[in-house]
Amino acid sequence: MFTVLHAIHLFAVVVAIGGSVVLRFIVYPFLDSDENTQAVRNEIFARWRKVVWIMIILITLTGLGNAHQSAMRVGKDFLYWMIFSAKIILALGLFGISLMLTLPGETYDRFRRERNKWMHAIVALGGVIILISAYLRLNFPGISQ
Ligand code: HEM
Repeated sequence: MFTVLHAIHLFAVVVAIGGSVVLRFIVYPFLDSDENTQAVRNEIFARWRKVVWIMIILITLTGLGNAHQSAMRVGKDFLYWMIFSAKIILALGLFGISLMLTLPGETYDRFRRERNKWMHAIVALGGVIILISAYLRLNFPGISQ
C-alpha cells in the first residue's frame, strides 16, 4: 500500500517539476520573444493549469500517506520532523507560486508578468525539496529496522 502511495507521490512530482522545466527552458523562451504568441501562451497555460492542480492534489494526499509511514518508521525523532517541517514550508511556497501563476482571472496578472522568474523559482524550490526528501529517506532508517 505505502509502496503505491510513494510511487504516486514520485510520479506526481516528476510530472509537476519535469513539466515546469520543459515549459521554462524549452517552450517559453520561444513564445516570449513574440507578441503574437499571446493566444498560444494562454492555451498552454489553460492546459497546464489542469495538470498542475491535479498533481498538487496528488502530491498532498500521497505526501500525507508518506508522513504516516514516516511516523511509523522514525517515531518522534525531533531532527526528522524539523527537517520534514522545512520541506513542508518550502512545498507550500511552491504550491502558492504555482497557484498564483495558474489561477484564472486577473488578480495575479502583475505577478504573472514576471512568469519566467517565478517558473525559475519553482524549479529551484523543487530541486531543494527533492534533495531534502532524499536526505530524509536515506538518513533516517527507522526505529524498527
Ligand atoms: C504537502 C506536501 C508534501 C508532503 C506532506 C510530503 C511528504 C513526504 C514524505 C513523508 C516522504 C517520505 C520521506 C521519508 O522517506 O522519510 C516524501 C518523499 C518524497 N517527496 Fe514529498 N511531500 C510533499 C511534497 C513534495 C514535493 C512538493 C516534492 C517535490 C518537489 C516532494 C518530493 C518527494 C520525493 C522526491 C520523495 C522521495 C524521496 C526518496 O524516496 O528518496 N514532496 N514526501
